[in-house]
Amino acid sequence: MMDLKCLVAESAFISRSRAKATGTVCIDPDTGIIVANGATDLDSFLTTGDRLVTPGLVDSHTHLVFAGDRADEFYRRARGDTYADIAREGGGILRTMTATRAASEDELFELGRARLVRLLDAGTTTVEVKSGYGLTDKDELKQLRAIRRLAADFPGQVVATYMGAHAVPPEWKGRAGGYLKRCSELIATIAADGLAEFVDIFVDPLAFSRDDCDCVVQATFDAGLKLKLHGDEFGDDGTAAWGAGLGATSIDHLGGISPDGIDALAGSATVATLLPGTMFFSAHGRFAPARAMLDSGCTVALATDLNPGSSHVYSLPLVMTLAALRMGMTAQECLDACTVNGAKALGKQHLVGALDPGMRADIVVWDCTRLDELPYHAGANLARDVIAGGKVVKRDGVWLGW
Ligand code: NIG
Ligand code: FE
Repeated sequence: MMDLKCLVAESAFISRSRAKATGTVCIDPDTGIIVANGATDLDSFLTTGDRLVTPGLVDSHTHLVFAGDRADEFYRRARGDTYADIAREGGGILRTMTATRAASEDELFELGRARLVRLLDAGTTTVEVKSGYGLTDKDELKQLRAIRRLAADFPGQVVATYMGAHAVPPEWKGRAGGYLKRCSELIATIAADGLAEFVDIFVDPLAFSRDDCDCVVQATFDAGLKLKLHGDEFGDDGTAAWGAGLGATSIDHLGGISPDGIDALAGSATVATLLPGTMFFSAHGRFAPARAMLDSGCTVALATDLNPGSSHVYSLPLVMTLAALRMGMTAQECLDACTVNGAKALGKQHLVGALDPGMRADIVVWDCTRLDELPYHAGANLARDVIAGGKVVKRDGVWLGW
């Protein structure tokens, strides 16, 4: 314990379970791991005064490696066109697919890196990133390689998910089942190359049916990967109960979940990941019934769903604002949803999402004194000091980078 960096935090939130008013987090500078969290007389590394300190935020659902943009669709929706109308006319996921296929791996890496800077600057230190805009073997692997390079570069954690089952590409139009079979054949290669930890499937009448998905689910588990689902987004398709039964790590969206679906999730280890930024940004679907889910005992995470179409939203604190305002979540529930429960949605609760010894030193000092200020400051970036893997990337509001 010689040469440790210590962050002294005079805040109640540094270790809620121990109900401390003041805490000290000690970081091993060689490993970027927290080695102690408690009162200590070691030299202080960063004195925070009376500022809120939390674990770095965990964004467990993004699609941030893509090329091009869809700003015009955003304005069209604002004038009344729907997400589905725009997709039918050649916009939507397939338009981003065309731009992403045309981009090189280097370009995708640079685009992804710029977006990760924005997330980290706003206090997010762990980020899940999905493929799903390539939709050919070659282009999906290109996206996954770009994600792997981002993971190696980023001082926080990047978790990769293969999402070939995002949309039926034009080459397979009318043959969704055949396309998913093709996706399932790629999964063993992806696993062998360590290119993804998760596989995600868009289960929806607009995309893929449960029956067609069976081969992808089977290949996922055969390859030792874990499962995520986009499910029950617009209506109750029974995906929550089905996915919980399969042992999915998380089911995401859930705007249309039924009471039976809520019961199934509450009685399972599957995390319910809610994406209110998508409802806000795309004006489609319904806000998920978070209150009923929390009151039934579901584990609820919040994430941005950052993508160029339905949720061009970067900030988890803004997502907390929406969750508080539109889904009735308390400030503490919002914080848990963006830390410990986000970590569970990635199977990483032993590593991130809390400030206990043995965990990564991913820490944010916020420019406020109370937790309830975080969702309340709608759209403000209150992240004042950001530490990722023990590295200070932002200090006193000034971005230092990595
Ligand atoms: O999670 N649901 C499917 N996929 C994304 C939308 C991606 C896009 O529009 O480009 C989502 O909302
Ligand atoms: Fe998504």
